[in-house]
Amino acid sequence: MTVSIIVLAAGQGTRMRSQLPKVLQPLAGRPLLDHVLDTAQALDPRRLLVVHGHGADAVRETCDRDGVDWVLQAEQLGTGHAVDQAMPEVSDEDIVLVLYGDVPLITRTSLDALLAATSDSTLGLLTIELDDPAGYGRILRNTQGRIERIVEHKDATDKERDIREINTGLLAAPAEKMKRWLRSLDNRNAQGEYYLTDIIAMSVAEGMEVVGVAAQSAAEVHGINDRSQLAAAEAMYRERQAQALMQQGVHLLDPARIDIRGELSCGLDVQVDVNVVFEGKVTLADGVRIGPNCVLRDVTVGKNTVIDAFSHIESADIGKSCSIGPYARLRPGSLLKDDVKVGNFVEIKKSELARGAKVNHLTYIGDASIGEVVNIGAGTITCNYDGVNKHRTVIEDGAFIGSNASLVAPVRVGRNATVGAGSVISKDVGDDALAVTRARQSEIADWQRPTKK
Ligand code: UD1
Ligand code: CA
Repeated sequence: MTVSIIVLAAGQGTRMRSQLPKVLQPLAGRPLLDHVLDTAQALDPRRLLVVHGHGADAVRETCDRDGVDWVLQAEQLGTGHAVDQAMPEVSDEDIVLVLYGDVPLITRTSLDALLAATSDSTLGLLTIELDDPAGYGRILRNTQGRIERIVEHKDATDKERDIREINTGLLAAPAEKMKRWLRSLDNRNAQGEYYLTDIIAMSVAEGMEVVGVAAQSAAEVHGINDRSQLAAAEAMYRERQAQALMQQGVHLLDPARIDIRGELSCGLDVQVDVNVVFEGKVTLADGVRIGPNCVLRDVTVGKNTVIDAFSHIESADIGKSCSIGPYARLRPGSLLKDDVKVGNFVEIKKSELARGAKVNHLTYIGDASIGEVVNIGAGTITCNYDGVNKHRTVIEDGAFIGSNASLVAPVRVGRNATVGAGSVISKDVGDDALAVTRARQSEIADWQRPTKK
C-alpha cells in the first residue's frame, strides 16, 4: 500500500489576530506546519502535498523542504475543495491521507492505526469523544454502530449536537474513489462550502465501510484556531517532552516548568530545575545539573558540570566538572575544557578556556585563548575591539591576572606571568614576569581633611 499525504494549510486563521499566517505560528519555537511535515515525512509517503493559500508566499518560503510539493488553493472554498486541488498529483492506486496544518501534535502511532484501517474497500476516519464537542463535525452512526455520515455543527439539529463523538478531520481513503467523490461534492450547506466530510455518506452509499479509529489522546488532535488553543498546544507539547525525559531518567524539578524548543538529549541523573529553556540542539552528559531560570541554546555540556541559576548560554561547548554561573553569559564560540569555573556576571565570547581556568567575577573575555589553570581576577576585561577590528588576547598556562586589569589586544601574557591589579596591558608580557602599569602609591602622614566653612 503506497501512501500519499495531503496537508491542508490554506486557511487564514482570522481568530489568531496576527500578521502571520496561522500555520506559521510557532509551537516550541517552530512553525505549526513544520511539526506536521516532520510527522508526515516519518511515514515515508510517495507524495507529500501541502495545500496553501492564505499567506502562500510566506508559508512556502518558510516551510519549503525536500520531498514537499506545494499546491495553491487561491480561494478557500472548503476542505473538500482544498483536497481536490491536490488530487491530480496523486496516483489512483495510492491511499491518500489528509492531515491539517493546524493540528500539529498528531503522532505517527495514530496515523499508522488510521492507515491500517484503510484499504480499497474501507475508509479510515480518526475520531474522538469530547466532553464539549461544540463547533466540530459530529459522527452519525446507525443502530449497528456503523458510521453513516458526518454532520457539521452549523448544519446539525439539536439532537445531533448532543453527539460527543467528533470528526478530527484526519482521514484516509483510496485515491481513485476519493477523486470521484470529490467531483460530486456540492456546497449547499450552512457555510456554502465544499465539505470533505460529505464523502463519508457517499462512500457508505457505495457499500464501503467507514472505520472509526479513536485518536490516542485529545492532545494529538488538538486543533489551533486562536491564541489560547496555541498556548494549550504548547503546554501539551511540553508535557509530552517532559514525560519522555523523565522516562529516560532525567530529574525534572517541575515538568510543567521546562521548555524544549528543539532537541534535548540527556545522560543519566541529569537534574533540571524550574524555568529552564532549551533551544536548538542541547546535549547534557551524565550528572549535569542545571539551576533555575537558565537558557541553553545549541550547547553541549560534559559530565557532572553544574550550571547555576540565571545563566544564558549559546553555541558553547562545555567540558566535564565545570562550574558555571550563577548569572553567567556564554556567547557563541565559548569553548570550555574540563574543570573550568565561570562565575557571576562573567561574559565570554569566541574564546577557549583550557582545563582548570577560573574566571570568577565580573569579567569580559572576548576573542581570547586562556591557558590551563589561569586565574583571572574580578573585573578583568579583554579590550578586543579597537572600534574597527577585533583582536585576540592570548594568556598562557599558569598566568595570574590581577583584578581590574585591561588587556588591550592584540596581546599575549606569557606562561606563569603575573599581571598586577589595575594594570592596562598593551604590550606582551614575558613568561614568569610581573607586569604592573598602575601609578605608585604615595602617602602623606597625618592628613588633615578640609572642614566646612
Ligand atoms: C473541519 C471539519 C469538521 C471537523 C473539524 C476538526 C469539514 C467540512 N469540517 O471543520 O468536521 O470536526 O475540521 O477541526 O471538513 N482549509 C483549507 N482550505 C479550505 C478550508 C479549510 O486549506 O478551503 C484547511 C484549514 O486551514 C484547516 C483545515 O483545512 O487547516 C480545516 O479547516 P477549518 O475551516 O478549520 O474546518 P472546520 O470548520 O474546523
Ligand atoms: Ca478548525
